[in-house]
Amino acid sequence: MRDRGEFDWSRQFSAQGGRAAPSEIQELMKILDRPGLISLAGGIPDAKLFPIAEIAAAHRRILDDPKRSGLALQYTHSEGFAPLREWLAGDWRRQGIDCGQENILVTSGAQQALDLVARLFLDNGDRLLTAPTLYIGALQAFGNLAPAYGELAELQQPRAPAAKLAYVMPDFANPTGLSMNLDERRALLEGAQARNVVLVEDGTYASLNYDGPPPASLMALSAGRSGAIDGARVIYCGTFSKSLAPGLRVGWIVAPAAVIRRLVLLKQASDLYTSLLAQMVLFEVVCNLGDTHGETLRRIYGMRRDAMLSALSKYMPGGVDWTKPGGGMFVWLTLPPECHATELCSRALEEENLAFIPGSAFYARSPSRNTVRLSFCLNDPETNAQGVERLARLVAR
Ligand SMILES: Cc1ncc(COP(=O)(O)O)c(C=O)c1O
Repeated sequence: MRDRGEFDWSRQFSAQGGRAAPSEIQELMKILDRPGLISLAGGIPDAKLFPIAEIAAAHRRILDDPKRSGLALQYTHSEGFAPLREWLAGDWRRQGIDCGQENILVTSGAQQALDLVARLFLDNGDRLLTAPTLYIGALQAFGNLAPAYGELAELQQPRAPAAKLAYVMPDFANPTGLSMNLDERRALLEGAQARNVVLVEDGTYASLNYDGPPPASLMALSAGRSGAIDGARVIYCGTFSKSLAPGLRVGWIVAPAAVIRRLVLLKQASDLYTSLLAQMVLFEVVCNLGDTHGETLRRIYGMRRDAMLSALSKYMPGGVDWTKPGGGMFVWLTLPPECHATELCSRALEEENLAFIPGSAFYARSPSRNTVRLSFCLNDPETNAQGVERLARLVAR
């Protein structure tokens, strides 16, 4: 007989490993295939819009080419596929900012970018400034380092405690959908300069804009002062997950070369390099598609956003407020104060076959109980409207 006495693993975990908490969203994702369920929960793109034929053809071309197939499947260096880095650097040069491959690190999605940046800059207890709500994966990446969270507004307060890093989503933030205007971006940068804080800019949703392109990025404003990425105090995290397909797991960091060199060392310890086959495929696909795919996504997701916003106006009872995002994937609702969104979420699943994420999952500090995140990208306009109608019925009950 084997001894089945349970070993107490928790006593063996490191402080960091033991701290990691499961995400409510990952748990919810497990029931999303229920028949008839309308999900306004996950912040995921619509798989029906992935450019599958182009991705398949690029794989075939690369693997059928004897000069490239071996390279694609071989070990490689950590910085990333040089033509892809060059292509990304070219994007900044076209904005008049000096940027070379030494300013770019290809990562396994923006999630890894956040994890590497967190590990490079934060020690336990360092002050990290954020909006009141933030992307759950950012909470996980930063939370591993047990920072002391403070408000972004502290950048404008000379007497606030010293902070190390500020995490910002100026474009169509997850979870609120809110964006910063140009003045707010400039003020943020001024504050960061005055208080000697490094800004981490998460540009995950910047390309999904439905009412025209957003104002200049924090990176463009910061680098614009010296004319070079090397003169910036911003670390920019980007990804192809929302604009092409998350399954390829390709993202990137743009930063001064001195920062990139340190990040490369951390990445080496983490995964050596991002799948070179995925990077080569992605490079072919972006070169071949140009902006046509982006235009399609903006058109279709824009209509889905419009459908959700008009359904909210049509069905929601008084006392409910919501954001009107110019892009991204999310609308953020504030329900009457007596509403408890987590309870509403369980009732929504039982009584209305509807899924959404209670807002409390997204707070770094003191969560509000009466907020909700709705995602509008995954469903066609009619389903978005039906989902909102179901939610409104529940709120009114
Ligand atoms: C704000 C934000 N940042 C980063 C990520 C991570 O994206 P990726 O798939 O590139 O790792 C996400 C994913 O949803 C996100 O919403």
